[in-house]
Amino acid sequence: MTNGKPTSAQSRRRFLKTAAGAATLAASALHAPTILAQPSKVKVGFLLPYTGTYAQLGKAITDAFKLHVDEHGGRLAGRAIEYVQVDSEANPAKATDNTNRLVNLEKVDVIVGPVHSGVAVAMVRVTRESGTLTIDPNAGAGVVTGALCAPNVFRTSFSNWQPSYPMGKVLAERGMKKAVTLTWKYAAGEEAIGGFVENFKAHGGSIVKDLWVPFPKVEFQSLLTEIASIKPDAVFVFFAGGGAVKFVKDYAAAGLRNSVPLFGSGFLTDGTLKAQGDAAQGLETTLHYGDSLILPKNLAFREMYAKAAGREADVYAVQGYDAAQLLRIGLEAANGDVKAQKKMIGAMESAEIDSPRGKFTLSKAHNPIQDIYLRKVVGMENKVEGVAHKALADPATGCKMA
Ligand code: PHB
Repeated sequence: MTNGKPTSAQSRRRFLKTAAGAATLAASALHAPTILAQPSKVKVGFLLPYTGTYAQLGKAITDAFKLHVDEHGGRLAGRAIEYVQVDSEANPAKATDNTNRLVNLEKVDVIVGPVHSGVAVAMVRVTRESGTLTIDPNAGAGVVTGALCAPNVFRTSFSNWQPSYPMGKVLAERGMKKAVTLTWKYAAGEEAIGGFVENFKAHGGSIVKDLWVPFPKVEFQSLLTEIASIKPDAVFVFFAGGGAVKFVKDYAAAGLRNSVPLFGSGFLTDGTLKAQGDAAQGLETTLHYGDSLILPKNLAFREMYAKAAGREADVYAVQGYDAAQLLRIGLEAANGDVKAQKKMIGAMESAEIDSPRGKFTLSKAHNPIQDIYLRKVVGMENKVEGVAHKALADPATGCKMA
């Protein structure tokens, strides 16, 4: 500056500075509305086991849920989806804290979980109070769609009673009249055995002995010795995940396969076949899914899932995929507005889910009404032999929808 006047270089710099400032302002003004118009992401909280005997189940549900979202470009009804994962450890004692963490700290829009029935009961007690939209992609505790049913709580899997009930009739009609049952001592085991026993007795069967082992223990030796000495017409069990792998191998190693026929709900051989190897060959179970179902949806799903996850699909993957389908249907009805819960719930309640298991609808209690298949392990497949019970609905005892 000379005698108070800016030099031409100075005034050029000042002009450039001002111009740059104006340009920045103009640019931010241009960008501001775009940023504001960008809808926030829908936050999905997974409460699933990623460690322990049910770890593979949690992983399959997570992978398949994400697969469906990815199929839609990472968005459902135009909303990007973000995930928070909490390891439930299949531990009911930690379930209330874990659910509170997702609801109050993470402030998720939707909870997807759990696998374990004991965790489910604690979770639902929290979410039916908070009103958080909840989709149960596995845990079969009867009360979730029974006495604790709620408008914001849905299930895309089964009630524990459902997959076991049809096997009671199948075995009784084969002339097997005396059975031993064996399972983990917790809600899922108790209710699964309950379903089988109800129908077995109704068709003339009787139970010679109920055997139990604490969850998630896998010391079966003394129980197998007892079964060998009783020699019933059949043994019916509920085990799943890592425990199912161990049980099926131990049963074969004890030399029981040829002397005492073994049956179960299909969790016994689902997602487990590679690890069970020869020990599982020929086992018959009942479940709402079978690998070999020749449905376009199942064939496409199995191919996509194998490519994305690097392993074969199983019932848990199907249930996780359908949880994402159900959420998409709800969000689409609400134009992506996760706060418009009434609209979402209305659409979810009347949805027909195009599932790899076959199309299904939900009962008034929000539990699938579905076909239960009789399957047989052949090679690396749970091969469908037929429908053991068509369109089976859970009795939903005690459900009073508010
Ligand atoms: C349950 O605890 O409800 C449960 C767990 C694993 C299964 C089925 C049911 O495969």
